[in-house]
Amino acid sequence: MNILLLGSGGREHAFAWKIASSPRCGHLYVAPGNAGTASIAENVPISVTDFEGIAVFCQEKSIDMVVVGPEEPLVKGIVDFFKNHTSVGHIPVIGPSQKGAQLEGSKDFSKKFMQRHGIPTAASQTFTKQTLEEGITYLQSQSVPIVLKADGLAAGKGVLICQSHEEAIASLKEMLLDAKFGDASSKVVIEQFLQGIELSVFVATDATSYRILPEAKDYKRIGEQDTGLNTGGMGAISPVPFADQSFLKKVEERVVIPTIKGLEQENIPYTGFLFIGLMNMNGDPYVIEYNVRMGDPETEAVLPRIKSDFVDLLFSMGTLHLDEYQLEISTETAATVVMVAGGYPGSYDKGLEISGLNEVKSLEQSIVFHSGTSEGKEGEILTNGGRVLAVTGLGNTLDQALERAYQSVNGIDWKDQYHRKDIGQDLKSYL
Ligand code: AMP
Ligand code: GLY
Repeated sequence: MNILLLGSGGREHAFAWKIASSPRCGHLYVAPGNAGTASIAENVPISVTDFEGIAVFCQEKSIDMVVVGPEEPLVKGIVDFFKNHTSVGHIPVIGPSQKGAQLEGSKDFSKKFMQRHGIPTAASQTFTKQTLEEGITYLQSQSVPIVLKADGLAAGKGVLICQSHEEAIASLKEMLLDAKFGDASSKVVIEQFLQGIELSVFVATDATSYRILPEAKDYKRIGEQDTGLNTGGMGAISPVPFADQSFLKKVEERVVIPTIKGLEQENIPYTGFLFIGLMNMNGDPYVIEYNVRMGDPETEAVLPRIKSDFVDLLFSMGTLHLDEYQLEISTETAATVVMVAGGYPGSYDKGLEISGLNEVKSLEQSIVFHSGTSEGKEGEILTNGGRVLAVTGLGNTLDQALERAYQSVNGIDWKDQYHRKDIGQDLKSYL
């Protein structure tokens, strides 16, 4: 099978690594990819939102399946574009329809969807510029902390947790009146603050059948002990020790099944991955958010634990045969540590040469995924983003997985490189 994968992050390097290891994979292309994907597949310089360019490429190269990594092309409707296209309409594109992608593209849509289908989530109401006064009255009637969310995609920055009513009212005004997050904050969801411990559950679905993939916990803040600014993610652990069988069963019954049934009932085509961000509140799951793709860096911890053929998984989703797919998961623990550019998530340098990559290749049970890298003129690997590498260690225990991940991390460096040293430490008390 010739496969085209869209995206350029660590998630996509992990996808490419898994796809390339399948005997069913013929030629693998990644658009646009990074230096990591270039070492196992062919990068092509097409933007993930250039749908026409992607369609032409698929025809030229006889592509049999398109796999979408990031949310942007999904929210912009790549799946519908292909379905309605005379020449590429037959090619399965792994991802939800534009309507389905609203589960991530609009917080208001996803909250209302959950309310319609009785899926446990924080109580909330949505306001616009026209209903600002009602919004302020609503805020004043709620206890603090309280959560304000820009409705649209805001590059992970659109969520504010406000500690006082004054702060919340000022932020609501900035979002609605001053377009703090541009168009994304023309609607704001005001939501009850949930107290608990977070984790993410990943589901693969072909719209009727589903498979629950390994769950993961990610580390969002830049600083150790979860301090400082939010990032795209500084590490991930899978499995999650506090997500026992009884908790995961509740997630399946209360969240996964009603979500898939709800999409079906509302005639919303949804094939692809669904990433459910959850709060575990005293053993009960509450949905914080849906994403319509896999997580990054969670994918770098989840995919190495999937033992069954990954191309088969993707293709059975795309051809609506997921009910026949036998998912096999390894009992090993995966620990992923993200190495970032100094200054991230603020401003940072790019183009710095990374040392040690060849030396750590031989280390056992550790995989270096590239998140933001490019290749220099002499073949040297350069930093090309805030999150630069995601290093996964696999082991029989959390300690062993962490030891293997950090052994590789400690062998790699560049100027002002930074990573958190406490990934996974908080989970030890649950073992
Ligand atoms: P989101 O962009 O929806 O993932 O939100 C970013 C982060 O804000 C989440 O991962 C949580 O840590 C936090 N968050 C979002 N909503 C809530 C909530 N209702 N209660 C507590 N924390 C929340
Ligand atoms: N790591 C969080 C995300 O991918 O959205």
